[in-house]
Amino acid sequence: MADKKEIRYGIVGIGKQGTFYTNIFLHNMGILKGAKLTAVCDIAEDRRKYAEEHLKGVKVFDNYHDMFASGLIDVVMVETPHYFHPQIVIDALKAGLNVLCDKPAGVYTKQVKEMNEEAKKHPELLFGMMFNQRTNPLYVKAKELIDSGRLGKLTRIVWIITNWYRPKAYYDQGGWRGTWWGEGGGVLLNQCPHQLDLFTWLAGLPVSVTATSSTVGRDISVENDVTAYCKFENGATGVFITSTHDAPGTNRLEITGEGGKIVIEGGKLVFTENEEMEPAFSAHNKVFMGAPKTKKYTYRGWGHYTHFKKYPPQHAGIIKNYTDYLLGKTDKFIAPGEQGIIGLTFSNAIHLAGWTGKEVSIPFDEDLYLKELEKRKQEEQAKPVK
Ligand SMILES: NC(=O)c1ccc[n+]([C@@H]2O[C@H](COP(=O)([O-])OP(=O)(O)OC[C@H]3O[C@@H](n4cnc5c(N)ncnc54)[C@H](O)[C@@H]3O)[C@@H](O)[C@H]2O)c1
Repeated sequence: MADKKEIRYGIVGIGKQGTFYTNIFLHNMGILKGAKLTAVCDIAEDRRKYAEEHLKGVKVFDNYHDMFASGLIDVVMVETPHYFHPQIVIDALKAGLNVLCDKPAGVYTKQVKEMNEEAKKHPELLFGMMFNQRTNPLYVKAKELIDSGRLGKLTRIVWIITNWYRPKAYYDQGGWRGTWWGEGGGVLLNQCPHQLDLFTWLAGLPVSVTATSSTVGRDISVENDVTAYCKFENGATGVFITSTHDAPGTNRLEITGEGGKIVIEGGKLVFTENEEMEPAFSAHNKVFMGAPKTKKYTYRGWGHYTHFKKYPPQHAGIIKNYTDYLLGKTDKFIAPGEQGIIGLTFSNAIHLAGWTGKEVSIPFDEDLYLKELEKRKQEEQAKPVK
């Protein structure tokens, strides 16, 4: 679409997140030059009424098929509950439209594979995933340090992400959130898809996972507490800890390699670089309890890093990059849609490991995963309605 000057967006689902994007389009046109919101659709009447009142000049539809056929949009943004993401993406691609899908790519990998297969049939269309944390300068810096080889061979990655505190009132809202039938999981499916994407973006997909997943202190059927231990092909290990009930919580990512250690916490990245790779040091060092000499580098978050100047933070950054890529203004595409399955594979494997109490190899048994998920949906349905 490099011949076009403007990319027209249509949003499917203008609930909380879809509405947030309508505000980005309407109030940040300086940042999103070349991107215009032209249509929205929602099956809920109250959301359409809201759109008609607040989104002047934007056409409102009551179903996405009509919006896709309208000729008013070039790109579909998918903002419905997760289970529907793959089918809507498939329908958009079949209608000849580009798609930017929100996280997670879907609930289970079998469904997301079908979506990726459809995307393969349309190389002329751009398929992206709203992995807005990939514009966070701290994770971008970590990726650069790893890809440059300075961190050396990775030996360990540990992410404690427990600052998703959700009180009882959050789950008491009801609806699709916090249910097997509505979102196919708890903290892994709702709060953590960005971290699961980044974990695998930075360290790769593990080859096996062992996990505990449980429900602590809330009357919900899905998990709100997870500890996963994983192994990588090169022998490195990883731990992913998350919860929505720790108060106060923590968000600390630590990645160790033979060349040093990266720690991201509290809005900064600290890189402690070994002057020599650890195995080389150990091979010649004769000092009892000797250790490689190190240098420390600190990088701060938004505004302190040149990347910010090119792409604005978070969601607007992904929309801008998506638009720029379609307009031929950049050849760097931050979040290809087909990559959505990687973090989801890790997520599904953690669920399966927690459910079965066994170490799960990746690729895992997708039919067993679906059987276990279905079992939980049935059990949930059998519970008395509150
Ligand atoms: N990237 C992020 O940072 C981020 C943050 C929050 C939510 N999300 C994602 O956004 C998605 C939506 O979350 P939300 O909080 O906005 O949910 P929500 O329930 O507030 O909104 C969903 C909307 O989709 C509509 N909808 C459902 N099926 C539809 C269909 N077939 N056609 C048209 N509209 C339909 C519903 O009526 C509702 O208005 C979720 O998948 C969530 O994971 C992403």
